[in-house]
Amino acid sequence: MSGKTLYDRLGGYDAVSAVANDLLPRLQGDSQLARFWNHRGEDGIAREKQLLIDFLCFGAGGPVYYTGRDMKISHKGMRISESDWSAFLGHLGATLDAFQVPQGERNEVVAFIQSTKPDIVET
Ligand code: HEM
Repeated sequence: MSGKTLYDRLGGYDAVSAVANDLLPRLQGDSQLARFWNHRGEDGIAREKQLLIDFLCFGAGGPVYYTGRDMKISHKGMRISESDWSAFLGHLGATLDAFQVPQGERNEVVAFIQSTKPDIVET
């Protein structure tokens, strides 16, 4: 059990993909965060979702190569604030609740996301 990657313990690709599919509409439907996705085309949003899935799989130790840009470059200039970040974490928590992710894995997912914060939050 302890030898398994976080990716395996979460349930592999389909589980990570389901998490991204649940999380993105929550973010886009939040009145504070919606501005980040307003007026973007469907294909751009689909591409971003795929990159998010790849990034999460890769970060969790899965057999996936992340081809996107790094977190600093891809969020630079969006002026994502502390308050936006808190809202994001609230939605992540709701998604992890929805999938009943066990506490140990949950802590690891949140720690991984928090590790990206210095590259994403600007203001
Ligand atoms: C409040 C927090 C966040 C907001 C508002 C946000 C918003 C966005 C937006 C609007 C894009 C599309 C950029 C574009 O197409 O040019 C994007 C890209 C992306 N975001 Fe975030 N993001 C947030 C946090 C995160 C976190 C925590 C992660 C990962 C753990 C993440 C992973 C990604 C990835 C992988 C991409 C695609 C990069 C690429 O285009 O190469 N984001 N984000």
